[in-house]
Amino acid sequence: MVLRTPRLDLRELTEDDLPALRSILQDDETMTAYEGAFDEQMVQDWLARMRRRYRDDGFGLWAVILQATGEMIGQCGLTRQHILDDDVIEVGYLFNRDHWHHGYASESAAACRDHAFASLGAERVYAQVRDTNISSMNVAIRLGMTVRGRFVKHYRGVRMPHLAFAVDRPIAVSVSDRRRST
Ligand SMILES: CC(C)(COP(=O)(O)OP(=O)(O)OC[C@H]1O[C@@H](n2cnc3c(N)ncnc32)[C@H](O)[C@@H]1OP(=O)(O)O)[C@@H](O)C(=O)NCCC(=O)NCCS
Repeated sequence: MVLRTPRLDLRELTEDDLPALRSILQDDETMTAYEGAFDEQMVQDWLARMRRRYRDDGFGLWAVILQATGEMIGQCGLTRQHILDDDVIEVGYLFNRDHWHHGYASESAAACRDHAFASLGAERVYAQVRDTNISSMNVAIRLGMTVRGRFVKHYRGVRMPHLAFAVDRPIAVSVSDRRRST
């Protein structure tokens, strides 16, 4: 296991997750921001890409497991991205539609954000969000992120305006600093 939150476990995706992965990546509504459902080859490529990221970077999008049932309900994790002319770390999240609106995306993404600061030494964590994806923007806002810029991506032949959200590593306040300010 990579990370644990009060309700969720995060671990690496494997071939055994393919059925759960298909329920997410082959659902048209879930994949609206990616211009619709993936076909089987795209799902296989997605899993292979994540497995490559684990090997090369030590992190990627992980499977999110609901502790109460053991079910794989989504993916959340960290990936290397190039955003606003910078090589950065991004937190990403995609959940099975049956499990939206329970706070699971925000709970797992907050753990990933903290892991990026505490264990990967990141100074800033990004989320790139298509400008039509309000649920995703709300997760970014719950993570304490603000909009740092905008850019356009071209994916599956479509021009997609995006917003770059980010949160900076919190400045550690030492006990003596706190005493001085009171
Ligand atoms: C983006 C996505 C992950 C957001 O999922 P989500 O469930 O809305 O996000 P959260 O985990 O933050 O849940 C927040 C909701 O849970 C509710 N909630 C219920 N119990 C909660 C709890 N214990 N703690 C926190 N929130 C809780 C909140 O009130 C909020 O409700 P609302 O959606 O009605 O406002 C989801 O819409 C998704 O998978 N979309 C498709 C993939 C995608 O576009 N990913 C982003 C690419 S950039």
